[in-house]
Amino acid sequence: MTITESGLPLFVLGRDADPHSERGVDCPGELPPASDPALVERARVAKERLGDRLFVLGHHYQRDEVIQFADVTGDSFKLAREAAARPGAEYIVFCGVHFMAESADILTADSQKVVLPDLAAGCSMADMASFDQVEECWEVLEDAGIADRVVPITYMNSSADIKAFCGRNGGAVCTSSNAKRALTWAFEQGQQVLFLPDQHLGRNTAVLELGLSLDDCVVYNPHRPDGGLTAEQLGNAKMILWRGHCSVHGRFTPEAVDDMRARVPGVNVLVHPECRHEVVTKADYVGSTEYIIRTISEAPAGSSWAVGTELNLVKRLAGMFPDKSVAFLDRTVCYCSTMNRIDLPHLVWALESLAAGELVNQITVDPDTAHWAKVALDRMLALP
Ligand code: 13P
Ligand code: SF4
Repeated sequence: MTITESGLPLFVLGRDADPHSERGVDCPGELPPASDPALVERARVAKERLGDRLFVLGHHYQRDEVIQFADVTGDSFKLAREAAARPGAEYIVFCGVHFMAESADILTADSQKVVLPDLAAGCSMADMASFDQVEECWEVLEDAGIADRVVPITYMNSSADIKAFCGRNGGAVCTSSNAKRALTWAFEQGQQVLFLPDQHLGRNTAVLELGLSLDDCVVYNPHRPDGGLTAEQLGNAKMILWRGHCSVHGRFTPEAVDDMRARVPGVNVLVHPECRHEVVTKADYVGSTEYIIRTISEAPAGSSWAVGTELNLVKRLAGMFPDKSVAFLDRTVCYCSTMNRIDLPHLVWALESLAAGELVNQITVDPDTAHWAKVALDRMLALP
């Protein structure tokens, strides 16, 4: 394999590979051109003008040009906690995706405004479960006579109304860093779990962390009558997994792991739990983005790593640890196009607008949804 100076394979894609307008939302203002050489300085000045009124959160998948302006970086769990821990900030600018900004709005005071620099920064996985589909699924579980023993657990990567659904129905939210604890809690509250929307995180956690078998899991397909399952299949399952997945992590293959091991003897394979079960079972280490960073930072110099997660983070890790070889696991996988929507022009536009007294791209959740979503989020935050 050809490795660049930074330790990355040469098949890394450029930012122009990022397809735009995924959700068809155009910026409502005048975006500065990406070619403006003053963008970095403009962001710095606007941020300075806003001072303590502003707090910028950056998810690990954000571009370098954006992450340099984050006051805190983290995985979904850490960012949710950080948002909740900043009651003094008037504006929380969330450099991440829509469901993260919604959660930040739910966890902050009404007086605080959460801003997503590009409203098109969604998440394809979160879009795989709509509120109506989830309600329909619950009716199927009621008809099968099992709803009162099922605890709904939704991954953070879901809309606020699905989090609220879980809050109303005795369930909770989880992230990739606490899925095991959330499932353990859920099985203390009931006998079965409806896990949505990421079937892979649900299956990987149930089988590899809780010791359930693959036969304990069924997949509910929202596009088929009754989810494509009989009442008996639903009743016998311990885990009812929603048929959703991450379009980025779902592309890593077990063959890529084999290929990497053949090319780089001794390589450590480290993947995110949104990867498919066949990939995760072949990996050496599995965990959230925060875990991935910690694992590589604590690894000995000279060690080799193949990382199966979003490319911006892998590139950054390769640059941060030049004494270790950090490569991208699979050449067919590219950036998360929606995370990549947040670029420097959008950030500058958002910060300058706020500094000029204009509130733009505010993310709000209606009070009833926010109340019940917060119940589900608080259950997660209270996990031991
Ligand atoms: P983390 O919580 O591990 O950062 O994951 C968020 C995400 O969207 C991964 O695709
Ligand atoms: Fe959503 Fe996947 Fe992007 Fe994470 S990497 S934000 S799960 S599409």
